[in-house]
Amino acid sequence: MEFPKLANDLILRAAKGEQVEQVPVWIMRQAGRYLQEFQDVRAQHDFFTICRTPELACEVTLQPIRRFALDAAIIFSDILVVPQALGMTVEMLPGKGPHFPKPLEQPDDIKSLSYPVDVNKELNYVFAAITLTRHRLEGKVPLIGFCGSPWTLMSYMIEGGGSPTLSKAKSWLYQHQEASHRLLQIISDVCVDFLVGQVQAGAQMLQVFESHGGILSNQSFTTYCTPYLGQIVRRVKEKLSKNDLPVVPITVFAKGSHYAIEELSQLGYDILGLDWTIQPQDARKTAGGSVTLQGNLDPCALYASKDEIDRMTRDMLTQFGTQRYIANLGHGIYPTMNPDNVKAFVDSVHSISREIINQK
Ligand code: CP3
Repeated sequence: MEFPKLANDLILRAAKGEQVEQVPVWIMRQAGRYLQEFQDVRAQHDFFTICRTPELACEVTLQPIRRFALDAAIIFSDILVVPQALGMTVEMLPGKGPHFPKPLEQPDDIKSLSYPVDVNKELNYVFAAITLTRHRLEGKVPLIGFCGSPWTLMSYMIEGGGSPTLSKAKSWLYQHQEASHRLLQIISDVCVDFLVGQVQAGAQMLQVFESHGGILSNQSFTTYCTPYLGQIVRRVKEKLSKNDLPVVPITVFAKGSHYAIEELSQLGYDILGLDWTIQPQDARKTAGGSVTLQGNLDPCALYASKDEIDRMTRDMLTQFGTQRYIANLGHGIYPTMNPDNVKAFVDSVHSISREIINQK
């Protein structure tokens, strides 16, 4: 069945480096707890039940689209569905976050993973949610699919949850190099099939979240992140074109990896996501002109007054420029954010960027 015709392709044009008349904007974690309507759904269903029920995942994906003039939707899911597909149990503890009752403790535990993974079986619920959401979006904005990066997922699988130092996972990189590469390769293989499957199901853009890159040394990043991130974008694009699927734009968001901007910009990703610690002009200089940049307002900046949000948005747009750029926060939005401030940010991006473009 055909999907409805796309009315707003602003973000796809920015991704490809084509001219835009206003800057596109979306927000990492735009579907979530800062919205009362999400809390209402969440009060009735466990987190992963929402992920696994296409009707519910679709509903919460659409919630922010109904409220704000966003230029993209991102499918409601979680990066931890991949460890689940590999046979690991993951729970989402209210107020605490993800919890793995049986994390990987030693290299031998890799054998306990169910690998290879038939993603069409194990992650079919994500594909079904994407297809349903493409229809329900009625072509209003493009739909983004995503996955976690191999290192970020490996670190959760070993730590068993959040950790400020990731010392258990990092110790593998120094004690069990061969096993680390083996595990990263297994996760990469699943990510490739998962991303291709999301496009086949209807995703029009993809993002890889390297949320835990910033805790590594530059050297470890180059050894354990870059090769797999490169492999993923290369293999996904190859498979898409071989299977006559659209070769959609792909973003890599590596939080905290300021030292890796140059190497990340050369991997074949269309878009480089930046956190708020990075100076836009520096990133532009380092990344060169052939990638689109995405980011990077401090998520906390949205706690400011609307006038301040306006001023900071203008500043950000002036520094990034209005072309080859997608506005976003530098990380996910906080659960205590007032939705009115989100609206102020989204509307400011549009009105100020139009003003700047029209002045030229
Ligand atoms: O709107 C969207 O962006 C789509 C949905 C989405 C979620 N998680 C929903 C979610 C996306 C893209 C993610 C990605 C994700 N998940 C990342 C990468 C982005 C980042 O923040 O760096 C990571 C590291 C995770 C793992 C994860 N999931 C953590 C650490 C937590 C707990 C912390 C938190 O924010 O609650 C989650 C839970 C989670 N994922 C929630 C939501 C809406 C809240 C869970 C709840 O309702 O209890």
